[in-house]
Amino acid sequence: MQFPYFQFPVIGDPLIIELDAVLHVFISHGVAIGMVFMIVLAEYLGYKRKAEAWERLAWEAIKPTVIIITGIGAVTGVGIWFITAGLVPPAIGSMLRVFFWPWFIEWNVFFWEVVVILVYYFTWHRWQGARKASHVHLGFGYVALGSLSAFLITGILAFMLTSDGWPHNRSLWLAFFNPSFLSQLCWRLSIALAMGALFIILYISFFHDGAKAFRQQAVSYYAMILILPLIGMIATGWWWFDTIPPGFKAHAKPSILIWVFAENIRWFWVFHIGGGIILGLLILAALIRNVPAARVLIIPSTLVVLFAVAEYERVREFIRGPYLMPGYMYANEIMLTEHELFTKEGMLPNAYWFKRMAPTATLEQEGAFLFAQNCGTCHTIGGKNDIRDRFAGRTERGIYVILGRTEQMVPWMPPFSGTDEERSKMSHFLDQLVAHKLELEEPSRYPSAEQGGTD
Ligand code: HEC
Repeated sequence: MQFPYFQFPVIGDPLIIELDAVLHVFISHGVAIGMVFMIVLAEYLGYKRKAEAWERLAWEAIKPTVIIITGIGAVTGVGIWFITAGLVPPAIGSMLRVFFWPWFIEWNVFFWEVVVILVYYFTWHRWQGARKASHVHLGFGYVALGSLSAFLITGILAFMLTSDGWPHNRSLWLAFFNPSFLSQLCWRLSIALAMGALFIILYISFFHDGAKAFRQQAVSYYAMILILPLIGMIATGWWWFDTIPPGFKAHAKPSILIWVFAENIRWFWVFHIGGGIILGLLILAALIRNVPAARVLIIPSTLVVLFAVAEYERVREFIRGPYLMPGYMYANEIMLTEHELFTKEGMLPNAYWFKRMAPTATLEQEGAFLFAQNCGTCHTIGGKNDIRDRFAGRTERGIYVILGRTEQMVPWMPPFSGTDEERSKMSHFLDQLVAHKLELEEPSRYPSAEQGGTD
């Protein structure tokens, strides 16, 4: 079913989803799981070694951490729902139907996460002495709940890449425990701990006013911990890449080679090897307990890991093109079965909302609708990945030919869905658009029913 179309202005749909989702990953993984783990560890060390300094570090670091988790973390998480429900309703609707129970359980888990982190925070001073051990357990309990959230969401995310047998057998179990699930879960837990260790080193070297000797000890302790998840990141990233189909692997290179990398691949290696060296130097500085050097290196090191996380998420989201769910739905949210129907019978006669909103639609309105449904998830008019640029210099006939081959031109682009007549209508619309003969009210909006087309 097609929904009335809305596109995020200028930067387009994919980027606005990415911006919110990647920030959410930094917080949900790096702060909620990673940073809290490091804090509970400090609390545990304080309790076990009867070391007041560790206890103080834990108590001071938990304050901003709780605010970030319950504030920005929760809001960006809900934001993913708002944004995707607004921009890609067929996609999110289908996913909800397949994964209703995992999501239902996840919402409950999330509720308990919020309860536990608040109880953990507010009972800090009351649960001292004999109850301290329970308090530490509560802290680790929170980390376990956070990891359970990661478990539940990863099944759904991994499915979007390796749906495996689901399109044929519709088994929820097989869909959830799909081929790239376990490796991705291990990767997510690794990055959570790596980001957590970096965040706490950042906190200690900039904000914590404990004694110098303690800060040296704490920084070297967390640097030691950091080594393991960094190795884990590389190993599980490799493992994950091994679990995805070869066709998708081929898209990995173009997905990374954007920005300055596209102009010169040497920059790619400079960035990645340089990033590795910065991280190595940070660990070295921290291990020899040189806090001033660690302070200089911690910000670039954190940026390196955040960049690596964003890069992974980009590759993961990008390479499954032309599909949103392989074997079931294309990236433009048209189901594979719908594609066949639209090719045979046409998209317009089957567009329930469009037919009612614009019973007397002009040729341009029809063309705009076909464009929005077919290409609008990735191409804007006048913004990022502008369709005018993509077709600049082409004739209407040329556009018509290209419309029949979009899936061959760029391997992650879905085919055009519609009859031959609709293909002509859309070519006409695009030709007018490229030649600036259409007066669209705003570059990214399409003519609405009331507005009437311009000819
Ligand atoms: C899944 C996202 C996606 C969808 C859907 C999509 N495109 Fe694209 N398209 C892209 C990307 C990304 C590029 C840029 C490729 C590059 O820079 O190499 C592109 C490039 C193009 C190009 C230029 C290709 C070239 O080699 O010069 C054309 C033409 C094009 N798209 C037309 C369309 C049309 C028409 C539709 C709708 C039928 C469509 N695209 C749907 C993502 C998409």
